[in-house]
Amino acid sequence: MTALRGHPVRGTFVHAPERGALEVLADAILLIGAEGNIRLVARPGEPDHERLAQRSDLMTLPAGQVVIPGLVDLHIHAPQYPQLGRALDVPLEVWLGQHTFPLEAAYADPDFARTRYTVLVDDLLASGTTTALYFATVHREASLLLAEICLDKGQRALVGKVAMDDPAACPADYRDASPEAAISETRAFIDAVRALPDNDRVLPVVTPRFIPSCTDAALAGLGKLAADCDCHVQTHCSESDWAHGHVMARYGMSDAEALDRFGLLTRRSVLAHSVFLSDSDMAIVQSRGTGIAHCALSNMYFGNAVFPLRRALDKGLNVGLGTDISGGPSGSMLEACRATVQASRMLEDGVDATEPASTRGVPQSRVDMLTAFHLATAGGGNALDLPIGLFRPGYQFDALVIDPDAPDGTIRRFGETDPSQLIEPILYTATRPNIARVYVSGSQVAGHA
Ligand code: GUN
Ligand code: FE
Repeated sequence: MTALRGHPVRGTFVHAPERGALEVLADAILLIGAEGNIRLVARPGEPDHERLAQRSDLMTLPAGQVVIPGLVDLHIHAPQYPQLGRALDVPLEVWLGQHTFPLEAAYADPDFARTRYTVLVDDLLASGTTTALYFATVHREASLLLAEICLDKGQRALVGKVAMDDPAACPADYRDASPEAAISETRAFIDAVRALPDNDRVLPVVTPRFIPSCTDAALAGLGKLAADCDCHVQTHCSESDWAHGHVMARYGMSDAEALDRFGLLTRRSVLAHSVFLSDSDMAIVQSRGTGIAHCALSNMYFGNAVFPLRRALDKGLNVGLGTDISGGPSGSMLEACRATVQASRMLEDGVDATEPASTRGVPQSRVDMLTAFHLATAGGGNALDLPIGLFRPGYQFDALVIDPDAPDGTIRRFGETDPSQLIEPILYTATRPNIARVYVSGSQVAGHA
């Protein structure tokens, strides 16, 4: 079952169109178009179901397997993969200067970049990440290489050449030479990604690293460039006490306000972290339709606080989830879902046992696993303004076939068969061997035959 394009596929599909709720399409048939889009969703009893069930090219999934939408990693630093699980005991600003910038600087060498990016993309696909919004490095050539590797391996990707030009904040051997260079190199990168042969899946992203590493001239020029090129934007926003305080001290306003003034908050912008957003910041972000990449695991190390996810969702912000490799020491979006639920529970209950329960936490902060699942799929797709994350006509068929009974896997069931009862155990306990096959736009990109 390698290519589903052009075929009807029969099985049990589970997705989460709304937060906190599942839709189970039991024994449904999806007709996949020649471009990998979903053309029809037919449920048992419907005339289309009867008709498609007769087709000689029907592909039927083995009983017991469950199909879920592909996972969308809304914030990941591709070059930091070699540092996964290292250097997590220092604050963000020390981590960047002592560990992260020196590692990223090595991507000036395309051979160094190629080996590491290849392993990363293979690992992410095998882990079920069908779409990733990547920060690459400051280097145009290696960033383009990442885009090519994603294209070659079949991942849906949005890739940013990182812009960072402030000599006061960035090392001499790892920065754009000037604001003009940050802008012209970004423009050249956008053009190069768009010109890649047969590129139907990889998009360029305007990527100012974060305000502390950029000059005003670069930030303003990149905001204008994003509008001129009609491009996605990504950056970090109010991640930690230090990062939040830096912007306040520099402009006398919040990160979100400052980014907005530079024209960097659009419907296709994604702000990583945003832990310290005020209510008025959330109102700005909501009014622009800008997305938030919530990175719960990373925030435990570098965020100094827990992002008020439930408040953001109640205010109608477009939120998805990110691993933030290597600020977060796992590339698995299933782990990101787990951390999201756990962090929200810590925020609700509070953490200091010497405080009375009544004042220890922030009431009504918890989210459940089904909400995390929604955010990791449909939420990420919505934040990117792409038709992914749902089994609906018009959406791309990006999907994971989960085998709950894979012998090397970690899901254990004792007779339960109801998919709606199985989905939480899948999300909590699945590991890579349970991900039998991975599809992007109807083509198999990982898993066994
Ligand atoms: N802020 C600026 N750069 C980075 C980065 O690489 N990782 C994280 N977590 N925060 C950042
Ligand atoms: Fe980050």
